[in-house]
Amino acid sequence: MAFDVARIRSHFPALAEGAAHFDGPGGSQVPDVVGEAVARTLTSAVSNRGTATPSERRADAVVARFRRTLADLLGADPRGIVHGRSATALTYDLSRALAKGWGPGDEVVVTRLDHDSNIRPWVQAAEAVGATVRWVDFDPATGELGVEDVEAVLSERTRLVATTAAGNLIGTRPPTRRISDAVHAVGALHWVDGVHATAHASVDLEALGADVWTCSPYKFLGPHSGVLAADPALLETLHPDKLLPSTDAVPERFELGTLPYEILAGASAAVDFLAGMDDLDTPVTDDDRRARLLRSMAALEEHEEKLLAALEPELRSMPGVTVHSNAEHRTPTVLFTVEGHEPQEVRLALAERGVNAPAGSFYALECSRHLGLGDAGGVRVGLAPYTSADDVDRLVTGLHEILRG
Ligand SMILES: Cc1ncc(COP(=O)(O)O)c(C=O)c1O
Repeated sequence: MAFDVARIRSHFPALAEGAAHFDGPGGSQVPDVVGEAVARTLTSAVSNRGTATPSERRADAVVARFRRTLADLLGADPRGIVHGRSATALTYDLSRALAKGWGPGDEVVVTRLDHDSNIRPWVQAAEAVGATVRWVDFDPATGELGVEDVEAVLSERTRLVATTAAGNLIGTRPPTRRISDAVHAVGALHWVDGVHATAHASVDLEALGADVWTCSPYKFLGPHSGVLAADPALLETLHPDKLLPSTDAVPERFELGTLPYEILAGASAAVDFLAGMDDLDTPVTDDDRRARLLRSMAALEEHEEKLLAALEPELRSMPGVTVHSNAEHRTPTVLFTVEGHEPQEVRLALAERGVNAPAGSFYALECSRHLGLGDAGGVRVGLAPYTSADDVDRLVTGLHEILRG
């Protein structure tokens, strides 16, 4: 069934305000069913998890459904799905747990393509235990980060390699599977930031070979939260700081405090909405969720590629516009700068025209600096399931007007 963008858009109350949203990479808009799931869970009878009362069982069911739906989204084991406040918080927490096993002489690898949340926690955790940090650069002209760039810094001293599945500033999608193979060949762990990637393509954790994958439901139509997926056997080897009376079970031992059941219910509803994009009339079930996700995400990729094919040549042909998203394999996220205009100026001029296209480094500070854009970055436009051809026209027309002065 075709990707019906008009039907999809009808599920997003936020779009009634009229703005063309190209700010999805910072956080997507949210469909009605996700908001309803949050409200329903928040106002229904819910207690702490247990089996004695309906409200205890409801809380338990929400958590079980969350692990199941997110595992379906990521091709992962439900027993290795961890909820967190954000991907940043999860990375900080786990970096401290992992660093308990590191010391002087050990090495940790980070890249300049990454969001700072997949750099600084590792740098600081390494510093705290006297381990060494090795940096991997991408090519600023092509935006490429290849397996050979990572291999150049690997050795038997490497303990962990942190890379991104897709850079949130310029969209580059490095070859995650090949990097995982190289990392595993030296006996290290591969930590993959999938926050930007998860919104744009299907994920198969097992096929990708990554040991850990992080993502954030608010980037893919869900509520503000973070998720980590890993092999439960790996999680069993890690011992985060935790309260004495709280459970030591995996994955619960990584989820500090009481879980926000309404947020988990919203994240599950977002996964089901994504899965149902292939056919909005047919409810998603536990049995067909994974298969429908694969179909729907393929249809989404096609939809976004088509829009990108309309947008990109326009951008590249505009006088004074430089496009910095140049990797061969990348998400539909385009960073550009305009000669003679500060990125924030362009952003404000677009905002006046009802086009939301934010500007900055988006916390990919190392990436922005390595591109020669300093801390100011550029203007970033990202496509989402609800992006229409009309949105793209409005962006292109607006930019032409701004360039004409
Ligand atoms: C690639 C990438 N990684 C990590 C993050 C941080 O995610 P969170 O806000 O869940 O900590 C973002 C947010 O923009 C991102 O785009």
